Amino acid sequence: MSASPVDYEYLRTVVLRNSGNQVDVTRNYLFESRLQGLLRNRGFDSLTQLVSVLRSGNGHGLERSVAEAMTINETSFFRDTATFDYLRETLLPALIESRRDTRTLRFWSAASSSGQEAYSIAMMLREHFPLLAGWRIDILGTDLSAEMVERSSAGRYQRIEVNRGLPARLLVKYFVRTGDDWEVHPDLKRLCRFQQRNLCQPTGLPESFDVIFLRNVMIYFNQDTRRQVLLTIHRALPPDGILFLGLSEQPRMDSHWQTMLTPKTVWYKPIR
Ligand SMILES: C[S@@+](CC[C@H](N)C(=O)[O-])C[C@H]1O[C@@H](n2cnc3c(N)ncnc32)[C@H](O)[C@@H]1O
Repeated sequence: MSASPVDYEYLRTVVLRNSGNQVDVTRNYLFESRLQGLLRNRGFDSLTQLVSVLRSGNGHGLERSVAEAMTINETSFFRDTATFDYLRETLLPALIESRRDTRTLRFWSAASSSGQEAYSIAMMLREHFPLLAGWRIDILGTDLSAEMVERSSAGRYQRIEVNRGLPARLLVKYFVRTGDDWEVHPDLKRLCRFQQRNLCQPTGLPESFDVIFLRNVMIYFNQDTRRQVLLTIHRALPPDGILFLGLSEQPRMDSHWQTMLTPKTVWYKPIR
């Protein structure tokens, strides 16, 4: 299978337009590997043929499928453990105190991939905050990829996935063995819901959360897109809301975000 350089340029534009993700010119080989399944499922024999159908405009959702297939879905349970530790030890106790009247807490795992981040939040709440049992807890996971949203909702993980970041004690407590896989226990699943959403299309994005995890996705966006996404996220947080980014990411918007540097981790507070 091969495609001309022109094909790659077109594919890059399609991905950018539909997901905000930039594919570097030096990484054309990613199209070859990541689009294999899509070519097979749609009956195309090459990337060149795929591009010509895309150009014709008769692809019926094909652009979106290409963008989704190009996403990088790397994730794990309790990724960057120190972030979860700090949330549990310091930020959540204060947040819970200030939400005693409404007894409601809302979390958003924006770019939730296969759901490990959302389920990690749910396990942390169940394990360490029994007083929340009578509260309304909403953990929303959203991702561009329909396949990831489907996987998250199923809450079914392979051994290799549960071996990444999930302590054995939590595995046996919150998962049920299903054949070779492990499935999230219905009690935990009940706290989480998953939806397909494009962070680059602000209309239709959810609003109003106490804690937002927007981790390891902005690295794929250009500066303009990052700024737009961060403005949307800013609007979704109350003044005492909490934003976590990936450890290599920063908002670079001093008028909107106060950087809260702690010995364990860094988080961001919206400035009003
Ligand atoms: C590397 S994973 C990060 C998952 C998780 N947040 C973490 O830190 O472990 C990046 C995720 O962002 C999603 N993504 C990429 N572009 C997106 C967009 N425009 N809107 C929503 N999700 C997007 C991808 O589908 C992928 O699942």
